Amino acid sequence: MNTLIIGMQWGDEGKGKIVDALAPSFDIIIRYQGGANAGHTVITDKGKFIFHHIPSGILYPDKICIIGNGMVVDPEILLQEMDTLREMGIEFKKRFFISDRTHIVMPYHKSMDKGRENLLGNRKIGTTGRGIGPCYVDKYARIGIRAAYFKDENRLREKIEDNVKGVNRIYKTYGLPPIDVEDMFDSYRSYALKIAPYIHNTTYLMNFYYQQGLNILFEGAQGTMLDVDFGTYPYTTSSHPTVGGAFIGSGLPHKTLHRVVGVMKAYTTRVGNGPFPTELAGEEGNILRENGKEFGSTTGRARRCGNLDLVIAKYACLINGVDEIALTKLDVLDGLPQLKVCIGYEYKGEIITEIPANTEMYDEYKPIYKTLPGWDKTRGITKYEDLPSAAKRYIEEIEERLGVRISMISTGPKREEIIFR
Ligand code: IMP
Repeated sequence: MNTLIIGMQWGDEGKGKIVDALAPSFDIIIRYQGGANAGHTVITDKGKFIFHHIPSGILYPDKICIIGNGMVVDPEILLQEMDTLREMGIEFKKRFFISDRTHIVMPYHKSMDKGRENLLGNRKIGTTGRGIGPCYVDKYARIGIRAAYFKDENRLREKIEDNVKGVNRIYKTYGLPPIDVEDMFDSYRSYALKIAPYIHNTTYLMNFYYQQGLNILFEGAQGTMLDVDFGTYPYTTSSHPTVGGAFIGSGLPHKTLHRVVGVMKAYTTRVGNGPFPTELAGEEGNILRENGKEFGSTTGRARRCGNLDLVIAKYACLINGVDEIALTKLDVLDGLPQLKVCIGYEYKGEIITEIPANTEMYDEYKPIYKTLPGWDKTRGITKYEDLPSAAKRYIEEIEERLGVRISMISTGPKREEIIFR
């Protein structure tokens, strides 16, 4: 059963832990979109790992891990990740591959990302500042630098020269000092030398593995509501964290996928700006943030927190064809007297159950809640029957409203704190 793990909210749903839990049943784990904006956290007896590019499955010694063509890779950060794995004694030389079609994040992508955000002032997106948007812009403008050039020094120099010419003109208007082509080429050549042995034509490699009958796990990053088409545009990322992105970003045909697992936090969070109808701005939000340690694993920013929104969840099920749900961080709700789940919105006297394209309008939607009883403790529970009845009620309410089964429930940050139903 080749499986896709997808975020059902605004990212940070706990996908890293679910990938880690499922990885033992798969041979290959592939990431297919995004880049160092992601931070997938896995806690094992060796310590805490935060993956930005490398699929979380790398922690298992026999798994093949792939960075797909749909990703954008920051070589400096990737090399740091690789060093951390080496320091932890995790060998990956013959089982880690990077697509030669992956786009490379350059320093000017990061400065443009930050520069554009500054220009937008209080209407800024709140990006991670990792150069993701500008790198995808260059990809679609067909001036991007692909990993394949890390194996061709002359072409790499040529591409850097061409791009820096254009970038320096923009820098001039911003009053920034020009980029020195030689400096940039020198540092990228040294990255290229270290990364080149891992670069392959993964399109053929993945299809070969598929034909050999190897099992594939697709590891999505970010979440449905951050998808550049389906999310709260323009307050989104620049890639496709939804199901279609898996095929575009891997080179595998759709029939290779058998199962979609949506990962959903038991409440809602989002980092950065943009609409968030169920946000809890006051003390209730602080409680969730503290209990759930809701601070970005990539940027350290405090996440905005709020009630579970089932309108969003239903939308994520619809777009992604979610077969089953992994509900995470249930234990963060322990001890709350009552819980509210959003079942619709109210806008100008009307009841709305759809996500609009107009973000400004969405900002004005008011949640309609159903209130459910709270419970005492779920932390660390590993059997469904041991959950308090109010927690079971919460889970069953979600299942009924979405028409999708919750097959996994995470009850704490550790690997073993999970219920398989
Ligand atoms: P960018 O992807 O850095 O351009 O950021 C665009 C928006 O997506 C911002 O609101 C970010 O906070 C959000 N974002 C990007 N990556 C993640 C992630 O992995 N988790 C949660 N939010 C993210």
